[in-house]
Amino acid sequence: MSDKTKDELRQEVEKRRTFAIISHPDAGKTTLTEKLLLYGGAIHIAGSVKARKAARHATSDWMEIEKQRGISVTSSVMQFQYEGKQVNILDTPGHQDFSEDTYRTLTAADSAVMLIDVAKGVEAQTIKLFQVCSKRGIPIFTFINKLDREGQNPFELLEEIERVLGIRSVPMNWPIGMGRELCGVFDRMKNQVELFQGKDHSTIEVRKTEDYHDPIIREMAGDYLAEQLANDLELLDVAGDAFDYEKVRTGQLTPVFFGSAVNNFGVQTFLENFLELAPKPTERQTTDGTVDPNDEKFTGYVFKIQANMNPAHRDRIAFLRICSGKFQRGMSVKHVRAGKDIKLSQPQQFLAQDRDIVETAYPGDIIGLFDPGIFRIGDSLSEGKEVVFNELPTFSPEIFSKVSIKNALKQKQYLKGLDQLTEEGMVQVFQSIGAFEETYLGVVGQLQFEVFEYRMKNEYGVDIQLFRTQFQFARWIVGGKVDPSKFRINSTLVKDKNDIPVALFENEYAMRTAMERMPDLQFLEVAP
Ligand code: G4P
Repeated sequence: MSDKTKDELRQEVEKRRTFAIISHPDAGKTTLTEKLLLYGGAIHIAGSVKARKAARHATSDWMEIEKQRGISVTSSVMQFQYEGKQVNILDTPGHQDFSEDTYRTLTAADSAVMLIDVAKGVEAQTIKLFQVCSKRGIPIFTFINKLDREGQNPFELLEEIERVLGIRSVPMNWPIGMGRELCGVFDRMKNQVELFQGKDHSTIEVRKTEDYHDPIIREMAGDYLAEQLANDLELLDVAGDAFDYEKVRTGQLTPVFFGSAVNNFGVQTFLENFLELAPKPTERQTTDGTVDPNDEKFTGYVFKIQANMNPAHRDRIAFLRICSGKFQRGMSVKHVRAGKDIKLSQPQQFLAQDRDIVETAYPGDIIGLFDPGIFRIGDSLSEGKEVVFNELPTFSPEIFSKVSIKNALKQKQYLKGLDQLTEEGMVQVFQSIGAFEETYLGVVGQLQFEVFEYRMKNEYGVDIQLFRTQFQFARWIVGGKVDPSKFRINSTLVKDKNDIPVALFENEYAMRTAMERMPDLQFLEVAP
């Protein structure tokens, strides 16, 4: 690689910011995404993202489920430029019924934006998504949204973030009033007030201040709010955490921004601060040491496979996160698992649902590869060393159904579908141990069952029946011989596709009791 090409690669890596927004449904993720895209010039009319959502429902029947449930099953990637940075937003399905795909998508992100509703605080789905990000140790930035509504006291929210999520926080700005009284925020880093103006809060006035006692604040926000702000900030200065970049970088401290996405308030400041502080793509672990994004040889891994995105073509798209080197359309790379060289000829990039052919791409970027059935989740592609990325975590299923086929004549297609869809990571499959052959499917989100049922019918022509069970936990058992008769009360013993025994439990009590009774065995949350 020439020095010029090396420099180009380094500059492109330097520019990249790849992140996901994690939140509970309704916190305002679509709204915030849309505002960010507007700033980046990726869309020009407010409402486009929502309109796309709606248009997709109207025109695409690839997933009837999407239409029926009014949810977005497909997660895509949105790319835009802002002040010299190349921004990739990984969209994760926002519905309660998320799936393992949502988790896997997070592995492709270098940082996360945690969006919290000021009134509702830290909600269930945010906790789950946070935990996945936190395990990876990536930086997490918090945006507390809907400040134009009456919400919880900001101090209580920060306390809740620490108590529930176990992460300390540092407010980068602080609200001046809230709900109807909201008039702006004080930027603690830049020492300035940003005030709403006008009835619809659309114009923002920015004034530099000496500090938070500056008379300008009194002039702009009135005595009462100015005093409240000074008291709050004094308390924060004394009792709050100081900004510490190293802690932010390692995911131990979350910078917090207050704002209102729908009113466009605090969004631009957030975007600018975020792009400044968020990390560029960094090195990634493989089974054979780390891979640096500036390594000249191209590498990447598949974190998601999407079937039937385009109903007219019934194709599959494998989403690849580039980890190092420069990608060029038509290049030949090694498909490490298959041990074959393949040519990447039809790569695609995404803005919401549109697909463009991509000629070049760099570490941090996500490309979609046409997949005639050769990829599995977790597959690595490499131009040089045969590396395998250790990125994809497996998750313990939390919802279980028994599955059976309606028409026994379709047994062969059924087994083929079951095999391929489990291979793809769609669901996990378990077989009962004992005389009565039963098949269980385990997932982390109800939606996975629906998609599974849909794809079985549409791609394999098989009608299946699913019977939801009471089981909530799966534990892989290792370390000795297992006696199935010990798993009769609120539990059952099954085996996974590699014949490893797995106990399913209906509740925590049953699980704890089993563990206490069999101290010689190890009960693992995921497959060993
Ligand atoms: P999601 O993708 O996280 O599910 O949330 P989405 O952006 O769709 O927002 C959920 C609702 O919250 C929307 O209202 C949206 O307008 C509203 N919202 C987003 N940001 C703010 C904010 O800063 N302040 C207030 N007050 N509301 C906000 P909706 O009534 O469900 O939809 P719509 O009719 O406004 O489109």
